[in-house]
Amino acid sequence: MKILLTGSGGREFSLVKKCAESLHVTAIAVAPGSDAIGEIRLQNGEPVQCLPFAATDAKAIADWARDAKYDLVVPGPESSLESGLGDLCRKYGVPFAGPCQRGARLELSKAFAHEFCSKYGICQPRGAVFDTFGGARDFLSQNDPGWVIKADGSASGKGVIVPKNLQEAHSAIRRLMIDRILGKAGERVVIQELWKGRELSLHAIADKNGAHLFETARDYKRAGDGDTGENTGGMGAYSPGGELSPERRRQIESIIQSWRAGCAAEEILYRGILYPGLMIRDDDVAVLEFNARFGDPETQVYLQRLESDLPTLLLAAATDTLKPEMLSWHSLGSVCVNAVSGGYGYGKPLDLHHEITGLDDIAKLPQVDIIHAGTKKVNGKWINVGGRVVGIRAWDDTRAGARERAYDAMERLLFEGMHYRRDIARELEF
Ligand code: GLY
Repeated sequence: MKILLTGSGGREFSLVKKCAESLHVTAIAVAPGSDAIGEIRLQNGEPVQCLPFAATDAKAIADWARDAKYDLVVPGPESSLESGLGDLCRKYGVPFAGPCQRGARLELSKAFAHEFCSKYGICQPRGAVFDTFGGARDFLSQNDPGWVIKADGSASGKGVIVPKNLQEAHSAIRRLMIDRILGKAGERVVIQELWKGRELSLHAIADKNGAHLFETARDYKRAGDGDTGENTGGMGAYSPGGELSPERRRQIESIIQSWRAGCAAEEILYRGILYPGLMIRDDDVAVLEFNARFGDPETQVYLQRLESDLPTLLLAAATDTLKPEMLSWHSLGSVCVNAVSGGYGYGKPLDLHHEITGLDDIAKLPQVDIIHAGTKKVNGKWINVGGRVVGIRAWDDTRAGARERAYDAMERLLFEGMHYRRDIARELEF
């Protein structure tokens, strides 16, 4: 099987690494990939090929996959979905393990997702969509505080605001809707009740005939320990993320069934990964958001636990041949902790281009993997070139054991300005 993937970060590094472990895979190309991704070798000894196309260059990627007779295209970031890559691949007859452009709106438009959930009876925090500042302001003034304000469009994690009081809420909608601090993304807003509870990242893999739940995972979005600092792309993750009671599982499966019914009614062609961000509060489970691709860094821990052959699974999703028994998991605990650049998650410019040391030492540790995210090789040395730089991923029989291994390895990693959360995977089970 020949696979083309898009993207260049930690999620993509781990997807490529997992695909490269498969005996079914004879070639992997990545658009655009990275220096580290280009160093991964397949089981047949061939290197991964990095293509000179941005992950959003749908035409170049789809043309290349078609002309090179690739068997499968797998999107990394949502920007590939937004570019219409799925629609173009399908037009060319190249299997694509992701939704169509319209399906990606579930992630890329918070208003579309809110209206979709309302229409198809999917539990979400109570709220509404607003096109005008006046409407949003009146709604806030007439209701108790405790709201989440979401810019409709995608804004790299900056579009979700949790105001502490009415004054802050008014100021937030003014900045989004009148000052347009996020441009068009803030033209419309969704205001929802703030739910406090337990967050859960859950993935499902879908084809035309059904959707199958992954095991549980949890990620950490805030930059600092104890959930302080700004929202980030993700500072770490672990899996399993907690046992689901039969009742919880039933609730989540019912969400997935309603989502499928909604996709069918809205003529959304959805294949591949659905990743709903869930909130569990008392007896209820609500959808906080939908993501239309693999989570980052949840993918890193999921793939360490995945026993099934990933390329086979993704091809089956793309070609409507998925079967529940294709999905199996190792019963180990996996933890991934991200080391990030100075300034990341604290609204400051990133402190970049410093040499990263300790990687050779970490590479010798058992049950520990290095996940390259924002790195580049210059004169034989790795330097940091992005916000999230290196993930340290470890496994063990238990989550506590995996956590200890990951943090022990992390102590050997160093680059100027580097920081990481020290409380990843510390929670008790729930
Ligand atoms: N882990 C958060 C995300 O992938 O969006």
